[in-house]
Amino acid sequence: VTRRKRVLLTGASGVIGTALRPALTQHDVVSLTHRAAVTGESVKGDLTRDWLGLTPAEYRDLASRVDTVVHCAAVTDFATPAEKVNVLNVQGTRRVAELAGDAGARLVHVSTAFVARSDLTRGARGAASRDAAARPEDYLDSKRAGEAALRATGVPFVVARPSVVIGESGTGEISQFQGLHNVVISVLRNKVPLVPFAPDSLVDMVPQDLVVGFLRALVDSEVSTGEYWITAGPRALKAERMLDLTLEFCEYLGLDVCRPRLVPPEMVDRLIRPVFIDPLPARQRRQFDDLMCMAALFAGADPFPTSLGGTLGESVALPSPEWFESAFLASVCYLAHAQGIVRRATRAAA
Ligand SMILES: NC(=O)c1ccc[n+]([C@@H]2O[C@H](COP(=O)([O-])OP(=O)(O)OC[C@H]3O[C@@H](n4cnc5c(N)ncnc54)[C@H](OP(=O)(O)O)[C@@H]3O)[C@@H](O)[C@H]2O)c1
Repeated sequence: VTRRKRVLLTGASGVIGTALRPALTQHDVVSLTHRAAVTGESVKGDLTRDWLGLTPAEYRDLASRVDTVVHCAAVTDFATPAEKVNVLNVQGTRRVAELAGDAGARLVHVSTAFVARSDLTRGARGAASRDAAARPEDYLDSKRAGEAALRATGVPFVVARPSVVIGESGTGEISQFQGLHNVVISVLRNKVPLVPFAPDSLVDMVPQDLVVGFLRALVDSEVSTGEYWITAGPRALKAERMLDLTLEFCEYLGLDVCRPRLVPPEMVDRLIRPVFIDPLPARQRRQFDDLMCMAALFAGADPFPTSLGGTLGESVALPSPEWFESAFLASVCYLAHAQGIVRRATRAAA
C-alpha cells in the first residue's frame, strides 16, 4: 500500500512538471510556481532568491507541510548565459535541498542523463562552436554542479536522470517542443540535405509518460537515496532508424521529401561546413551550428545506463525496441499535426 505523501513540486509548469502533476493524484501536491500559473494548490516563489522567494513565514509553513520534494525547476535553454543558468540550476537546487532538510523531507532531484556526456561537448572535444548560440556545456556543467551541490549539503536525495524527453508514447502530445522536434520538423519540411549524426549513433529518447511513470514510482516508494537513469539505454533508436521511420511517415502522407544524408559531425566540420555553411546568412549558420552542438552529445557515445526494469518494480519495466519506435512515430505524427503538415498534405491529396 502506497503511503499518501505531501509533495512539493518545483518546475510544475515545465515539460516534465506539466505531465507529472496530474499523475500524482494519490498524493497531496503543492506546486512552487514562478511565472506561469498551474492548476491545483500552488505557492508562487523564485528559487533564485532567499527563502525560495517566499516570506520567512510562508517558507516555514511550506516546510512544515511537505514530506517529499520533487525538484524539476531548471534553466533548460542551452542559449542562456552560464551565470544565469547556475543561479537556478546550482544555487536554486541548493536552496531546494535546504528546504528539504528543514522539512525533514525526501528529495527527488531531476537531473539529466547527459551529465554522463559532458566530455562529448564540442568545447570538451576541442571543436569550435562557431556561430552557435547553444552552449550545452554550460547547461551540463550546471547540472553536474547541481548534483555536486546536493551532495555537499549532506541532505539525502534521489537523483533521476532522464535522457531526451519526447511526447506521450501513444499520442506524441507534449506541452513544449524540444530540440529534437526541430530536427524532425526540418526533415518533414524537406529543409535539410544532411543531418549531422552518424547513422549508427544511438539517440536515447524517453516518452514523457515513461518519465512520469518512473518519477511517480519514486514518489510512491520510500526510496530516499540513489541514482536512477530514465533512459532507453541499449534499446535507444539509431539515427538511421529514426530517419527511416520519419521518411515512411512522409511517404504515408504523400509528402515529397528527399532523404537527407546522415553525416558524422567530424566529417561535416571537415568537408561540408566550410563549403556549404560558411556562405549562408547568419541566422541559418547559427541554426546549423546549434544543431552541431547538440549532435556532438550523441557522436560516438556509449549507450546510457538504464534503471528501467530495475529495482523499482513492474510498473517501470524497460519497454521493447518496437515500443520505442512506435513512441517516436507518435511524436512525429503529433508534430506534423501541430505544424499543419498533415492538413496541407491531406488538402493536396484531395
Ligand atoms: N525536457 C527534457 O528533454 C529533459 C531531459 C532530461 C532532463 N530534464 C530535466 O528535467 C527537469 C525539468 O525539465 P523541463 O524540460 O520540464 O524544464 P522546462 O520545461 O524548461 O521548465 C522549467 C521550469 O522551471 C521553472 N522555473 C524557471 N525559473 C525558475 C525560478 N527562478 N524559480 C522557480 N522555478 C523556476 C519554470 O517556471 P516558469 O516557466 O514559470 O518560469 C518551469 O516550470 C530539469 O531539471 C531538466 O534539466 C529535462
